[in-house]
Amino acid sequence: MIRFVLLSLIIFTTAACTPQEEESSRTDILRGKQLYQENCAACHGVNADGAGAASLGLGVAPPSLRDLSAGNGGIYPRDYVLGTIDGLARHNDPSAAMPEFGAGDMGTVVLLEENGLTMPIPANLLAIANYLETLQN
Ligand code: HEC
Repeated sequence: MIRFVLLSLIIFTTAACTPQEEESSRTDILRGKQLYQENCAACHGVNADGAGAASLGLGVAPPSLRDLSAGNGGIYPRDYVLGTIDGLARHNDPSAAMPEFGAGDMGTVVLLEENGLTMPIPANLLAIANYLETLQN
């Protein structure tokens, strides 16, 4: 019961968006950008428009990550992006070249509320997904 009350408090306090929270979401996106450049740009391109240098020799060309919303009826497919980075949506195909980042350290866990559900998500994973959302065409 106490745990439920604490969780409700956390959800309640994150619902309102104060200037500090806006500031923290900006720094989050900057961190996401940095993490993207460190972990993803080699394959998906510095501008996320696909096929960076490391794609040479891969069985599958790393796709552009700027058309994820366009390919999903104009809605950013956050869960799919989080799942793909984490490795949940990993193809069983042994030639799938997309590394499974969930196997490494993705930072401290934060609670993400979506559609009335609260999910624990590693902060670095969320930062990258939020950064990619800002790049959508
Ligand atoms: C070694 C190269 C490589 C690296 C590094 C890499 N990816 Fe990928 N990624 C791929 C390939 C290849 C695919 C195509 C799907 C597959 O694995 O068959 C892909 C697919 C994806 C998709 C699905 C795109 C779609 O249109 O369905 C997303 C999202 C994605 N990657 C995000 C990322 C992010 C974010 C990072 C960094 C944390 C990252 N990738 C790092 C190679 C890579």
